[in-house]
Amino acid sequence: MNVLDRLRTAFTAATPEGGDPATFGSAVRPSTDPKFGDYQANGCMSVGKAQGKNPREIAQVVAGTVQLAPMADAPDIAGPGFLNVRLRDDWLSETLGRLIADADLGIDRPEKALTVVIDYSSPNVAKPMHVGHIRSTVIGESLSRIFASLGHKVIRDNHLGDWGSQFGMILWGWKNHRDEAAYAANPVAELSRLYRLAQSTIKPGGDFKARYEKVFTLAEGGKAEESAALFAKLAEGTSDSLESVKATIDEARKVADATRVETAKLHAGDAENRALWEQFMPHCLKALDAIYERLGVTFDVHLGESFYDPMLAGVVSDLEAKGLAVESEGATVVFTKASKAPFIVRKSDGASNYATTDLATIRYRKETWSPDLLLYVVDHRQGAHFKALFEVAEKWGYDDMRMEHVAFGTILGPDRTPFKTRDGDVVGLESLLDEAVSEARKVVDENSPDLEPEQRAKVAEIVGLGAIKYADLSQNRLSDYVFDWKKMMAMNGNTGAYLQYAYARIQSIFRKGEIDPEAIRSANPPISISGPAERGLAVALLRLPESLSLAASELKPNILTDYLFSLANAFSTFFQECPVLKAETPALRDSRLALADLTGRTLRFGLGLLGIDVVDRM
Ligand code: ARG
Repeated sequence: MNVLDRLRTAFTAATPEGGDPATFGSAVRPSTDPKFGDYQANGCMSVGKAQGKNPREIAQVVAGTVQLAPMADAPDIAGPGFLNVRLRDDWLSETLGRLIADADLGIDRPEKALTVVIDYSSPNVAKPMHVGHIRSTVIGESLSRIFASLGHKVIRDNHLGDWGSQFGMILWGWKNHRDEAAYAANPVAELSRLYRLAQSTIKPGGDFKARYEKVFTLAEGGKAEESAALFAKLAEGTSDSLESVKATIDEARKVADATRVETAKLHAGDAENRALWEQFMPHCLKALDAIYERLGVTFDVHLGESFYDPMLAGVVSDLEAKGLAVESEGATVVFTKASKAPFIVRKSDGASNYATTDLATIRYRKETWSPDLLLYVVDHRQGAHFKALFEVAEKWGYDDMRMEHVAFGTILGPDRTPFKTRDGDVVGLESLLDEAVSEARKVVDENSPDLEPEQRAKVAEIVGLGAIKYADLSQNRLSDYVFDWKKMMAMNGNTGAYLQYAYARIQSIFRKGEIDPEAIRSANPPISISGPAERGLAVALLRLPESLSLAASELKPNILTDYLFSLANAFSTFFQECPVLKAETPALRDSRLALADLTGRTLRFGLGLLGIDVVDRM
C-alpha cells in the first residue's frame, strides 16, 4: 500500500473551493521532522494566496472535511496553514501486521502495467569498458529493477556501439600494424592496442593537431605569411620543426581518411571487412560479458547499431517521402526547433550515422514492443542529440510513447576533472572493480578479523562492488561527483557498507537469539508501538512503496537510496533504544523481532533493486 498516494487521494477529494485538485493533492509530502507529523499537506497556502484568503481558515475547513480514517485522525493545523497528518498507532500496528505477512512488502500491482524499454550501458564494443561506462550500466540496471518491482514490463536493451568509426580504426590497425601472436594470446588487448594506435596517430599528442592544424589550412588557402607567423608563435620554445609537424599532421590526415574508408567499406558490405568484423565481435562481446556478469547485469536483448544497418535507407527515404528530410549542403537533414544545427540523417558522402540509427531503433522498438516509455540512460553530453531525436521521432509519427533521456553527470577525480589514472589514461572498469574489492578487503579485515579468510574474500567482493554502485546511485544522477574510495567505503553515513552492515546486524540478532525469522513471520505477533523509536521505524517501514514509485516516476535511484538510508537510521535509533532479545515481555520481544525482520527484508529487497547484495556477517 502506497501511504502517500492514499493521503494524496484523500486531500484531493477535500480540495478547498477554488483550488486545483491535482495541485492540492500533490502538495502532500512526507514530513521532514516528526514534530510536524508523518505527512504534511501544504496546499492551503497557495490557495489562500490566489484567493486573498487567510490560509489558516482554509486549513480549518480542509481539516474538518478530509477523510483520513482509519489511517489518521483529523490533521493538525500548524504555522501559516500547514496540515500535519499523524498516522494512528492502532492503524500502524495493524498495517504492519499485514506487511509482515506480505511477500511483496506492500507493493501493489499497478493499475496499468507499462511496457518500458530501457536502453542502457550501450558501450562502443571495440574498446575495453572504462569508468565512464559504470554510470549508464548501474543506473540503467537499477531503473530496470525498480520498474519491474512495481509490476511493469521491462525490456532491457544494450544498444551496443558495434558499427561505428571505431571499427574503421581497428580494421586499419589490423591491416597495417597487427601482431598476430598477441591477438592469439589476448584478442581484446590486441584490438584495443590497434584502436589506440589509430587514435593516437589521428590525434597526435593531446591538442597537438588542433594547435597546428590551422598553420596548414592557412598555407593551403594561400595565406603563406600568416601561416608562417602562426607557426613561429606556436612553436616558440618547443623543438618542433615545420617539417616534423607537417609530417605528423600529414600522417594524421592520411590515417583519418584511411580509417573512414575502412568504416565505409564495412558498411557497404565489403567481404573482407565484414569477415574481420565477424571475427572480432565475439571476442569483444565476451570481454563485456565478463564485466556484466561480475556486476550482476543482464539484458533481454543486445540489439547493437549493426542490427539496424539494413533499415537505415528505409528511414531516410520515409523521412523524405513525408517531407521531413530535405537536402542541405549535400547532406540529408531534418530541421528542428531543438537545435540550430540540422539533424543529419545522411551525410554528404552518403553515409548514415548515429542519428539515423537511433531513428531506426525507435521505429523497431515501437513495432516490436509497442512501449509506453522509452528510456535512454546516456551521458548528459548527448542531451542535444536526444532532444532533436525525440522531436524528429514525434514529427515522424512516434508521438504516442514517452521518450526520456535519463542523463547523468561525470565522475570526477580528486582534482575535480574527469577521473583519470595517474598517467592520465582513462580508468579501465575491470581494474576499478578489482581495486574496489581490495579496498573493501582492508575494511573487512579490520572490522571482522574473526571471519575465515575465505569468507572475508567473499564479503569483500560484495562490499566492494556494493560500495561503487551505491556511491554512484546515491547521487542525484544529474550532478558530477568526485570518486572517493574513503568516503564510499565508510561504514558510517550514506554508503552501501552502512546499509549492508545494518542488514548483517539484524541477522546477528536472530543468530544470537537462535530464532528462526520464518517462525516470527508466520506467528505474525501483534506489533506494539510503545515509543517514538518504534514508531519512527514503523512509519519508515511503510514507506517502501511510495519511495519506489517516486524513484520510478522521477527516474532517480537516489530516491530509493535516500529511503533505505533513512530506514537504516530509523532502525539504528530503534535498536539503541529498544531492547529486542531482552525486551520486558515475550510479546514485546516478538513484536520487536518482527519489526527487525521486516527491516532486514526491506533493506535486502531495496539493495537488490540497486543491484547490491547483502551478507549475513561482515
Ligand atoms: N554507444 C553510445 C556511446 O557510447 C551510447 C548509445 C546510447 N544509446 C542510444 N540509443 N543512442 O556514446
